[in-house]
Amino acid sequence: MAFSNNAKTVLERRYLTRDEEGNVIETIEGMFKRVADHVALADSIYNKEADIEELSNNFYNVMMEQEFMPNSPTLMNAGKELGQLSACFVLPIEDSMEGIFDAIKNAALIHKSGGGTGFSFSRLRPKGATVKSTGGVASGPVSFMKVFNSATEAVKQGGTRRGANMGILRVDHPDIMEFIECKKDTTEITNFNISVGLTEKFMEAVEKGEDYELIDPHNGKSTGTLNARTVYKHIVEMAWSTGEPGIIFLDRINRKSTVPGLGEMESTNPCGEQPLLPYESCNLGSINLAKMIKKGTNGYEVDYDRLGEVVDIGVHFLDNVIDINRYPLQEIDEMTRKTRKIGLGVMGFADMLFHLGIPYNSQQGVDFAHKIMKFIDERSKKKSQELAEIRGVFPAYEDSIFYNEGIKMRNSTTTTIAPTGTISIIAGASSGVEPLFAISFVRNVMDNDRLLEVHPYFEQIAKERGFYSEELMEKIAEEGTISHIEGIPEDVKKVFVTAHDVSPFWHIKMQAAFQDNVDNAVSKTVNFRREATREDVEEVYMLAYKLGCKGITIYRDGSRENQVLSTLKKH
Ligand code: CDP
Repeated sequence: MAFSNNAKTVLERRYLTRDEEGNVIETIEGMFKRVADHVALADSIYNKEADIEELSNNFYNVMMEQEFMPNSPTLMNAGKELGQLSACFVLPIEDSMEGIFDAIKNAALIHKSGGGTGFSFSRLRPKGATVKSTGGVASGPVSFMKVFNSATEAVKQGGTRRGANMGILRVDHPDIMEFIECKKDTTEITNFNISVGLTEKFMEAVEKGEDYELIDPHNGKSTGTLNARTVYKHIVEMAWSTGEPGIIFLDRINRKSTVPGLGEMESTNPCGEQPLLPYESCNLGSINLAKMIKKGTNGYEVDYDRLGEVVDIGVHFLDNVIDINRYPLQEIDEMTRKTRKIGLGVMGFADMLFHLGIPYNSQQGVDFAHKIMKFIDERSKKKSQELAEIRGVFPAYEDSIFYNEGIKMRNSTTTTIAPTGTISIIAGASSGVEPLFAISFVRNVMDNDRLLEVHPYFEQIAKERGFYSEELMEKIAEEGTISHIEGIPEDVKKVFVTAHDVSPFWHIKMQAAFQDNVDNAVSKTVNFRREATREDVEEVYMLAYKLGCKGITIYRDGSRENQVLSTLKKH
C-alpha cells in the first residue's frame, strides 16, 4: 500500500471508524470500501439494474491508488449514521435576534458534521443603530461575529476538528473599518477567516481616488461616505501585518453565477474556493495530478487518457454524493438538490510540474496550468451532460445560463480548486495548486507532532544525479529553498522551486490561469517574503483584480504565529 506514515497517522486519528470505547475498528482499505460502496448505491435510484459492484470497484480503485479523493467529510461519514458528506456551506444571517441565533444553531449542526460555514454579516444593521422592540442600540456585525466564534469554539467539528468559518462584510457597510481590523489581535475571532466583499463601484472609486457611500442595510439609506483609497489602504495595511482580511470581488462572483435566476451570492465557504447561495452546500473532490503522468520517449508526460477517465469517475462520484448525502437542514437539502453544484479540482499540481521539468514561476508553467485545467473543466462538463441525459438536468436549470445556451447539464457547476489540506496528506501529494512549501520541511501534523520530510521525487533526482547526501537534505530543510545552496545543478534549481522562490506576481498569474478554467473559485495563498512592503501587497491586489481572480488571500512570512507548515529556520 502506498500510504505514507503521515497519511496513516492522519487516517487513524480522524477518519477510520472507532467503536464505542474509541478503538479503531476499520482498516484503510475498509474505509475506502465503505465510502465506495455507499456512494455507488446512488446509481440504483436511476437504474434498478445498475452494476453497483463494478461502479464501487471503480470508486475504490481511484481512492486506493491515490488518484482521486473526495473532501474529508465524505471519507469520514459516508455509510455511517451521520452521513453528512459536504465540506462547504453558506448560511444567511437575517437582521433580527431570531435570525442571528438561528444561524448560530445551524452552524453548530454543520460543524458537528464536519462541514465549514460561510456567512455574510452584511445584512445586520450597524453598531449604534436603533432596535425598535427594545428602544436600545444594535451591537453591530463584529460583536455578533464574536458570538459565532465562541459557539464554534465550543462545538468540535466531527468530534475532532474545530469548525471553520468565513465572515464577509460588504465594503459599503457602515461598520467596515471596525471589521477590517477585527482580527488585528491575532488571538481574537480565531475560528474565522475574514474577507471584505468589494464591489465594482468601490474598485472604480479606488482607481479614481473618490469617496463612496456607506449604506445601512436595515433601511437602505446612506449613513455617510468614506474615501475609497483610505479604506483600500487600510485593508492592505491589515493584510500586510496579519494576513487578514482577504478580499473577494462580489460583483464578479455574481456576474459569473451559473444560476443567476436564483438570486445573489454573498459569501464563500471558509477557505474561499466555493461561492454559494444562501443555504447551498457543495461537495468537493480532487484529482491527484502527480499520478496522472506516464513515461514517454522524452521523460514524463501527462497521461491524458487516464486523466479523462478519472475526471469522469470523479464527476459521477460527486453527483452521487448529492443524492446520498444527509443534509443537516431541510433548507440546505432543498437548495443543494436544486443546483446540484459539485467541485472537482486538483492536487499534486506542483508535483506534476517537477516531473515534467516545468518551473512553476514561468510563463510555461502558467500556460500549462491553463491547458490542463481547461481539459479537466471541459471533460467534467461533458460528463455532467452525459449524466443529465440519464438522470435529468438539475432542477434549477431554467434559472441557469445553460438553459439559454441549450446545454443540458446535471450540475450547475463542476469545478473548484480546494486547498486539499488533509486529503493531500492522505494522497501524498502537494496541496491543491500551490507550489511546494519546501523541498524538505518540518510538518506540524495535528497536536504539534513534528516530522521532517524530503520531497520523494527530489530525493530520487538527487540520488540519480549524484548530489544526494543527508547533510544536504538537512541544510535544505533549514533554508526552506534550494536556490542558494551549492552543489545542486542549475537546471534542478530552476524546476524545484518552493513557495518563497515564487514571487507574488507568479502566484497571482497561476491563480488567474486556474480561475479562467474553473466554475467556482480557486483556493490560493499568495506568499510574500517578510521584507515585502505594503506597496507590494497593494500591487498584487490590483493585479488579482485585473486578471479576473474572484478573490485573494495573502500571507507575509512570519506575520502570524502557529503556521501549519514551517521550515526549521527561524525568521
Ligand atoms: O483536505 P480536506 O478535504 O480535509 O479539506 P480542504 O480541501 O483543506 O478544505 C475544503 C473545505 O473544507 C474548506 O474550504 C472548508 O469549507 C472545509 N473545512 C472545514 O470546514 N474545516 C477544516 N478544518 C478544514 C476544511
